[in-house]
Amino acid sequence: MTYTPKQFNLPALTGLSAEQIKVHLALYEGYVKNVNLVMATIAAYEKTDDEGGKYAIAEMRRRFAFEFDGMRMHEYYFEQFEGEKGGSPESGLAKAAAEKYGSGENFIKHIREVAGSRGIGWVVVYADPRAKTIHTVFVNDHELGQLAGLPVLLALDLWEHAYMVDYVPAEKKNYIDAFFANLNWSVVEKRFDAAI
Ligand SMILES: [Fe+2]
Repeated sequence: MTYTPKQFNLPALTGLSAEQIKVHLALYEGYVKNVNLVMATIAAYEKTDDEGGKYAIAEMRRRFAFEFDGMRMHEYYFEQFEGEKGGSPESGLAKAAAEKYGSGENFIKHIREVAGSRGIGWVVVYADPRAKTIHTVFVNDHELGQLAGLPVLLALDLWEHAYMVDYVPAEKKNYIDAFFANLNWSVVEKRFDAAI
């Protein structure tokens, strides 16, 4: 099988220009292309007895999570901007957030604090269905440091490519404001309901 880039039905966004989104979507499509390339190249080498090919396969297997997680994390990211903005203080997510962080406002404040970590990466909010709770984590490299098996509820891309068309690095806070201005909490709530 091969992966096909998802087409996102994005509304007009606040604080994120069409050019910024275009550049970022092109980067996402590069990940999809490379996921397919890695799989096809491994399959081609598997048909040979070439020693170098075996070595190349081993290295591509190590590399696969970089391409795959880059693809999937961007799907989580862009999907969050789709649809009519919603969100309910009565949602399961809101209740879990209040239980862990004290209130919905504190939950958002916490995400913003984690997003202020130095360096590039992602803030990822996960559901832990076993413990019936949520975790907010800073993931530097998307192929490393993700929580095993936990469904992603929210993905905030903090690589500079996510905002460099519209903001300089010192304006990362403005980008985070724009992210929250455009975030459709209904999408995050649905992910929580599916996970828990
Ligand atoms: Fe990105």
